[in-house]
This record gives sequence, C-alpha cells and structure tokens, in this order.
Amino acid sequence: MNTVFLNGQLVDRGEAKVDIEDRGYQFGDGIYEVIRIYNGEPFTMKEHMDRLYESANKIQIDIPFSKQEFTEKLIELAILNKVNDGIIYLQITRGTSARQHHFPAPEVKGNIVAYTKEMARPVSKMDEGVTAKLVEDVRWLRCDIKSLNLLGNLLAKQEAAAEGHFEAILHRGETVTEGSSSNVFIVKDKVIYTHPPTNLILNGITRKVIQKVCQENNITFIEEAFSIAQLQAADEVFMASTTSEVMPIIKVDDKVYGEGKIGPVTKKLQSLFQMQMES
Ligand code: PDD
Repeated sequence: MNTVFLNGQLVDRGEAKVDIEDRGYQFGDGIYEVIRIYNGEPFTMKEHMDRLYESANKIQIDIPFSKQEFTEKLIELAILNKVNDGIIYLQITRGTSARQHHFPAPEVKGNIVAYTKEMARPVSKMDEGVTAKLVEDVRWLRCDIKSLNLLGNLLAKQEAAAEGHFEAILHRGETVTEGSSSNVFIVKDKVIYTHPPTNLILNGITRKVIQKVCQENNITFIEEAFSIAQLQAADEVFMASTTSEVMPIIKVDDKVYGEGKIGPVTKKLQSLFQMQMES
C-alpha cells in the first residue's frame, strides 16, 4: 500500500483526489518542497519546513497546521511507507475555486498533498560528473519563492536535456544565476563562489549545508555573483540540490574542466556533505 497525505489525512494513493479547479492545476498557484530521506531519516527537515512557511508567507497562502504538527505528519507518512533512501514531495496550492485570477474568498482552504518515493543517491554520477549547457534565464524576478510555476526552469532543462546534458546553467546576460533545478558554484584558486541569496535564485538547503561545512573547515565560501567569463575560467564547477547533492560538472558547453574528472575541492565537499548526512 502507498499512503499519501491529503489535507490533513493519511489516505491510500488511489483515494487521493484533487478537483480539476485546483489553482495549482490551473495556474501553478502554489508552492512545494522536496525533502531527502537517508536511511529512513529525513535530512535538514527543519530547514525545508522553514523555507516552505516562508514561501507560503510570500504568496499569502495560509498553512492550517503548525510547523511541528505538519512535520510530524510527514515523518509519520515516511515511516508508514517504509522509505529508506528517498524523498518526501509536498505541495500546497491556494485551493479549489471557480477559475478567476484574483485570490478566492478567505474561507477557501489550500490543498495540501504530500507523497514519498524511493530514490537512490546518484552515486555514479557524483563520481564521474555530469555536463551542462548555458541557457538564458528567462524566469520571473521572484526565484526565491519555491513556486509550482516552473515553466522557465522546465524549458531550460529540456533545452539542455535534448542535447544530452544533465543540467542547464542559467544566466541573466553575463551573470550566472543558478541551475534549472539546482544551485551552481565555481571553484577558483580553492575559493568557492556562488550567487548570493537574492530574488534571482532559490536559496537552496543543500547550498546552506555546503556553506556551513566550508565555514567549519576553513574553506573560503563567497556569496558573489560570477560571470560567464569567470565560469569559463574556473578550476572546478559543481551544482547542488536535495536530489543531486554535490554534483561535479565536468563540462559546460564545449569547455572541459579538470580534464573531464571531478576536482579536488568538489570531492572534499562531497565527503564533508556525506558526513553531515550521516551525523
Ligand atoms: N530543486 N534552485 C532551483 C531552481 C531548484 O529547483 C532547486 C531544488 C535548488 C536547490 O535547492 P535545495 O538544495 O533546497 O534542493 C536550487 C528541487 C530538488 C526540485 O525541484 O526537485
């Protein structure tokens, strides 16, 4: 049996139904999170729940549970589904109401759905590295919100995937922002650079873990936007996300890094990240 969370209840997946006039379905009017489970334990759950409530607040969606209540329910769901290495996906929309652009009446409650999925860690990709394509960032100016509206991200990812790449690295003019579903980092002379957490990127939880392990291990981590030219001149490039962890990028367009092998700083960060996962 596969159980899902639907508006406060744990129900069988086959029983979980959302109306066709759900605003997430019609407008992408909602928010989401993806939380990693390692060895049956949720990883950085508090940080994900904090970001969820922040996203909700930014788009004026009311979550009818306390963070603690909601967290407990999600953990119960993961235990019930016996997830070992996997994810919890959850989304909250502005609810069901007759289609109209402005918000529905306050009594319309959001639709909250969560499910779990087994997902192995991408170990061979993390050893070998992946390739990426530079794509113009045409998304809106509130990329800090983890919105269900992902068309800009999807079009970029598809453009990269169609040419066999794992990720699209997005740029606004000369400035690199982030990946289509990840944050992007460069290493130059052993210093790590990544875009500051402004409205132009999603402030990734994996990014925060990397920042923390850098601070604890005297690795210089600078939140400063870098250009395409700096990307091309970097010693190493990597991306990070809940599902990709610390993922080496060995080639961007035609530029190959480190003779096509994972670089030493990226490798070190992978092992520091793994220690966080296991602690
Ligand atoms: N994506 N930037 C974007 C645009 C993202 O979609 C993601 C995550 C990140 C990294 O955030 P985090 O480290 O908190 O996962 C950055 C998730 C995994 C997804 O959409 O599936």
